[in-house]
Amino acid sequence: MKILVTGGLGFIGSHTCVELLEEGYEVVVIDNLSNSKIDVVDKIKEITKKEIKFYKEDVCNKEGLEKIFTENKIDAVIHFAGYKAVGESVEKPIMYYENNLMSTLELCKVMKEHNCKKIVFSSSATVYGSPKSLPIKEDFPLSTTNPYGTTKLMIERILEDIYISDKDFSIAVLRYFNPIGAHKSGLLGENPKGIPNNLMPYIVRVATKELECLSVFGDDYDTPDGTGVRDYIHVVDLAKGHIKAIEKILNDKGINYYNLGTGNGYSVLDLVKTFERVNNVKVNYKIVARRPGDIAACYADPTKAKEELGWTAKLGIEEMCKDSYNYILKQK
Ligand code: UFG
Repeated sequence: MKILVTGGLGFIGSHTCVELLEEGYEVVVIDNLSNSKIDVVDKIKEITKKEIKFYKEDVCNKEGLEKIFTENKIDAVIHFAGYKAVGESVEKPIMYYENNLMSTLELCKVMKEHNCKKIVFSSSATVYGSPKSLPIKEDFPLSTTNPYGTTKLMIERILEDIYISDKDFSIAVLRYFNPIGAHKSGLLGENPKGIPNNLMPYIVRVATKELECLSVFGDDYDTPDGTGVRDYIHVVDLAKGHIKAIEKILNDKGINYYNLGTGNGYSVLDLVKTFERVNNVKVNYKIVARRPGDIAACYADPTKAKEELGWTAKLGIEEMCKDSYNYILKQK
């Protein structure tokens, strides 16, 4: 079976390529390197002793996609490619809508032309907006608070309409909670350019003294310690969820939505303290004002993924903290 992975050199994409190769799939990657590095191709090979077929190409480029589908008999697609920074999306909405939507439309067009009708889409828990209760189930009302989130929700709707128009399609929409951690080897992980927006990349840089102090955005939320609660999930568990989703779409038709989370909520301070303890390192922090747009708490009910995909997250918050730090230390 040959799987096309868009954005396959990115944080979640690269870990998913490893799992696919280890499960015996052939992997073709399209990535424009806008937020990833070419050396990830070699890192994937070093871990798996297997090769991916790599195309440096933009998913918005229909001719480029045509070439890939002509040169390879693609059985299914995992679509990760897209811009993903919440703050940037508020500043540059046109760029976000254009890139994330156009790429998906071109991809779907070319897939249909080549009679490839199986796709796993990388969505986000952000489509639940501010949930009315917790844990979050897949049938909760959907809404968004920023252009990035809106692109995810719009793509979900596009895929749904494609399925309605053509029942041969088989689609799995995966709604990720907060992916952190890194591959055990220390060869793959997350190392964003510039000042990180997300909590774990920021903690790691404070631990390595590249940044002075973590700003904890608010300690007056209605949560056990007042800081924001999230469902952190190890990126390797998340990657394994994609293998289960691929198995599902290869064998079934329909469109299905799955939460990929652990079902456990941890606060900002839980994460900081655990990181300090397991890595034996100090993470300086100060409490500052809430970040606009943040919600108090967000965690998944992952029962549907367990029952229908046979998937559950196995790695805990300690492994997540250890592996995130190990990866950054290996980059030095
Ligand atoms: N936080 C801090 N300080 C920081 C960064 C974050 O205190 O420097 C806090 C936030 O306030 C929040 C928690 O850490 O309580 C997690 O924040 P992240 O920025 O790491 O993650 P978010 O939950 O805000 O957003 C993530 C992804 C989005 C996705 C969303 C879906 O970054 O892409 O989850 O739930 F849309």
